[in-house]
Amino acid sequence: MTQHTLKHLTTVKECHTWCLAQKHTGQTLALVPTMGALHAGHLALVTYALQQADRVIVSIFVNPTQFAPTEDFDAYPRNLELDLKHLKALGVHAVFCPKTTELYSDSLNDQTLVMPRIVRQILCGQSRPHFFQGVATIVLKLLNCCQPDIAVFGEKDYQQLIVIRQMIQDLLISCQIHSIPTVRTQTGLALSSRNQYLSPSQQNLAPELFKALKNIEQGLCAGNPITCLCENMHTHLTQLGFKLDYLTIRHPETLEKLQPEDTTAIILVAAWLGHTRLIDNLICKHSFHQPAL
Ligand code: PAF
Repeated sequence: MTQHTLKHLTTVKECHTWCLAQKHTGQTLALVPTMGALHAGHLALVTYALQQADRVIVSIFVNPTQFAPTEDFDAYPRNLELDLKHLKALGVHAVFCPKTTELYSDSLNDQTLVMPRIVRQILCGQSRPHFFQGVATIVLKLLNCCQPDIAVFGEKDYQQLIVIRQMIQDLLISCQIHSIPTVRTQTGLALSSRNQYLSPSQQNLAPELFKALKNIEQGLCAGNPITCLCENMHTHLTQLGFKLDYLTIRHPETLEKLQPEDTTAIILVAAWLGHTRLIDNLICKHSFHQPAL
């Protein structure tokens, strides 16, 4: 693999100038937005981006507007030195690590924000009402800074992906959104920067979430009723020590409740393990028929 110098950009002006220079010389550009604390899931996004475009820029910014005051903004893992090492080793061309004041002027309480469609209010949006507005706002800002041809996101944050795709479509943004499947540990746990919060015993328990999703998928393909499948797994996970936020089967494109005629689905879960909120999902690969809803 060719080793490039990793260009370190911190201001919006520097980022804009570098990205436009790439495009003016005819290079295609991919953006991988992250909040840092990079793990193998992020590195898979970057590797994919490197295969798709001539130039790759990774943003590292822990975005305050997607955290509620009660959430883990201060505690969110940060390890810029290690992140830069990983990105350099992969051959990433540029990293954009702005300060908050570069991206948000003045008070965080008085900002122009993007209000995503109604999908922002369901599932994760119900327990984190501010979240998708913060995500859509920062993603739009990053797209404006970089003007990439493509931007790459992980499917682990599936609802986020839907919100971003809708924003791109509704606001007529000329950027293709690509996604790649969730990267997991050998035990099935979806990689997340927040897994660092888990104690060793919680780490042993956490893969049960994915097992539950697989179990529901099997039941769905076998023609079992959706409500029973979710209720049984809800009880099982609660008994194991999870506190469930939601466990549900939805339409994979709209995230709306399944209709009797639907034959494809996504199973989504959000659950607390101690003080850590974990999310995961599984897209049913096989079409199925519902006995009755
Ligand atoms: O998925 C994330 O890491 C963040 O929500 C994102 C897309 C980088 C926006 O801050």
